[in-house]
Amino acid sequence: MARTDTVDLPLPSPYDRLGGAPALRRLVDGFYDAMDQDPAATSIRRMHQADLGPIRDKLFDWLSGWSGGPPLYNARPDRACIMSAHAPYAIGPAERDQWMACMRTALAGLEIEGDVRAMFEAAFSRLADGLRNR
Ligand code: HEM
Repeated sequence: MARTDTVDLPLPSPYDRLGGAPALRRLVDGFYDAMDQDPAATSIRRMHQADLGPIRDKLFDWLSGWSGGPPLYNARPDRACIMSAHAPYAIGPAERDQWMACMRTALAGLEIEGDVRAMFEAAFSRLADGLRNR
């Protein structure tokens, strides 16, 4: 007979495995710091506003929900479809690769297990490639 007195514990989300909100904040800050400072990212840096403050918060909110944490971006009055938000920008392989290089730098700055890093790198790669419109 099937047992009814057990509880299925949910697996930790990618958000939890990364280290929750503090780690995600470090990831986002490391990402935009790299975009701001790495000469190899100059052309994607130029596509962004001079003040990276608002986009830091937007990316944090979006990644929170995407990785299984609180769905903060969906609660924003200025939320947008992620594909439409990128439509005004010409994103081809070079822009995708610059974006990923900044994200790899940011991931390298976190104290996380290698399998967690690999999982995020693979997921970001798929996502960044999916946002190409060129
Ligand atoms: C994993 C891939 C990516 C994610 C998760 C992501 C996420 C985001 C988010 C959440 C926003 C804010 C949208 C809004 O206005 O509410 C944004 C804006 C933007 N993204 Fe991405 N993005 C990705 C890839 C890329 C790539 C490859 C580029 C290439 C250049 C790019 C360039 C931009 C630009 C220029 C903006 C507007 C920035 C601004 O207003 O200052 N993104 N992105």
